[in-house]
Amino acid sequence: MYEFAPTSGLDPTELYRELAQAADALTVGEPDGIANMANVAALIWQFVPRLNWAGFYRAIDGELVLGPFIGKPACIRIPFGQGVCGAAAASGETQLVADVHAFPGHIACDAASRSELVVPVLRDRAVIAVIDLDSPDTGRFGADDADGIEALAARIALRI
Ligand code: SME
Repeated sequence: MYEFAPTSGLDPTELYRELAQAADALTVGEPDGIANMANVAALIWQFVPRLNWAGFYRAIDGELVLGPFIGKPACIRIPFGQGVCGAAAASGETQLVADVHAFPGHIACDAASRSELVVPVLRDRAVIAVIDLDSPDTGRFGADDADGIEALAARIALRI
């Protein structure tokens, strides 16, 4: 049994530091990338409040393919450049979308989603996956969330 839980009352910076430490501890020494993504998705879900979807898409042959996640069933394949995830994969840059309905080409996997944060996972400067967080609250994500998930992505890039 693994007991990773955020300390209560943390500010976002400290919360994401604890999340990255927990992810590091859970994935160190484990060579199976799917297992590691599954545990990291579960940790994000546990640590980050106000989410309705959290997980991975993997970059395979020029498209994104659904990976381990928590939430409702989601679209399986997303071409690079399409939707918020595809924009992150094509640009290699974090996408922070306050209102998904205002994002041209947003792909609605869960009608409850209102805002979204997608962070590319880079290895040798290539996008190997993206981490996708959806919230039912408009404007849920800010710079501290982007910084925290980017730090997490860097921490696990060699383990997925
Ligand atoms: N909304 C995403 C699709 C993935 S789901 O949110 C899980 C997008 O526009 O790329």
